Amino acid sequence: MKAIILVGGFGTRLRPLTLSVPKSIVDFCDKPIMVHQIAALAEAGVKEIILAINYQSDKIQKYLDVYEKEYGVKIICSKEDEPMGTGGPLRLAKDLLTKDNEEGLFFCFNSDVICNFPLKELLEFHKSHGGEGTLVTTKVEEPSRFGVILSDEAGKINEFVEKPQVFVGNDINAGLYLLNTSMIDRIEERPTSIEREIFPQMAADGKLYTIPLHGFWKDIGQPPDFLKGSELYLNHLEENKDERLAHGDNIRGSVMIHPTATVSEDALIGPNVSIGENVVVESGARIKNSCIFPDTKVCKNAFISETIVGRGSTIGKWSRIENLAVIADDVVVKDELFINGSKILPHKSIDKSYYQNGDII
Ligand code: GDD
Ligand code: MG
Repeated sequence: MKAIILVGGFGTRLRPLTLSVPKSIVDFCDKPIMVHQIAALAEAGVKEIILAINYQSDKIQKYLDVYEKEYGVKIICSKEDEPMGTGGPLRLAKDLLTKDNEEGLFFCFNSDVICNFPLKELLEFHKSHGGEGTLVTTKVEEPSRFGVILSDEAGKINEFVEKPQVFVGNDINAGLYLLNTSMIDRIEERPTSIEREIFPQMAADGKLYTIPLHGFWKDIGQPPDFLKGSELYLNHLEENKDERLAHGDNIRGSVMIHPTATVSEDALIGPNVSIGENVVVESGARIKNSCIFPDTKVCKNAFISETIVGRGSTIGKWSRIENLAVIADDVVVKDELFINGSKILPHKSIDKSYYQNGDII
């Protein structure tokens, strides 16, 4: 089987993390966001993954060899000269998607969603209904930021409304599809929104179906959702008694610590914390509801709460960082400073406190 992942888009809502790397390569718990998807696709029997790319493709490309080997898949980049939206990339990659594809099917993923990827159920259901596409849906309380789906009891979609201005329903497009290659002919060779132009047309033709997702789901394309998504992911691992989670007297709730990280026994960690490769956490530090990316150092007695700390940064002694702060890559926060909800750009050295929530420094 084949798959395409839409890894274009500028990831502006996840800045400053996306100033150094494309959104799909941002670390999420134990691996980059996109690699969670590659792992799930490989597990479902996909042998060839096409990455639809338009931005910082060189940075993605250099990772590919490692993941091809690790997951036993072939990864091919389909590069756009201009952003082709969410539908145009499928048309652009038509030859790649149809070549040697006897089944005539492919998975298509938005690159910023995280869940338990129920791909086997998706495949079975798609084969059972005979339509041209199946979308995975999930329920949210605030649907206006998403594509809303109205369907009948058999799962046939009657209406697809992208980012509705008025309330239509709570079942939303989770950004995971299984499509017949025949649908590519519905897309013209120009920037196209699959959600606004193609799905409504397929629904009107009675060719589009939906399967509900059971379990957690999050679009992690902005910091509060990223932190919530990591909490949901870690709790999901906890429910499944996953051996990647840490345990000990200084660990509270769901916590993931990379085996190469060094965390002092006198540091209190959790709940909902992920600590990446080669991270050092010194004694007396307190970290909760936060993600600490690889190669970062958290010095003695630092306090970090509801914060994302990028790669290769240093958080000084007795510093306090909280309230949806995002510290980018290669930042130094000096000792005894307070950072309240600010976004710190890459390569900065911070030597004063920022009390105002929402500052960009
Ligand atoms: N290759 C390529 N080219 N990819 C793109 C482009 C482009 O020009 N523009 C966006 N993408 C990718 C993004 O990187 C992302 O993986 C995906 O397409 C969706 O774009 P987002 O910008 O994240 O869309 P959204 O979150 O507002 O809405 C989409 O996702 C929701 C679920 O999270 C829609 O598909 C909604 O219907 C859906 O509910
Ligand atoms: Mg998104």
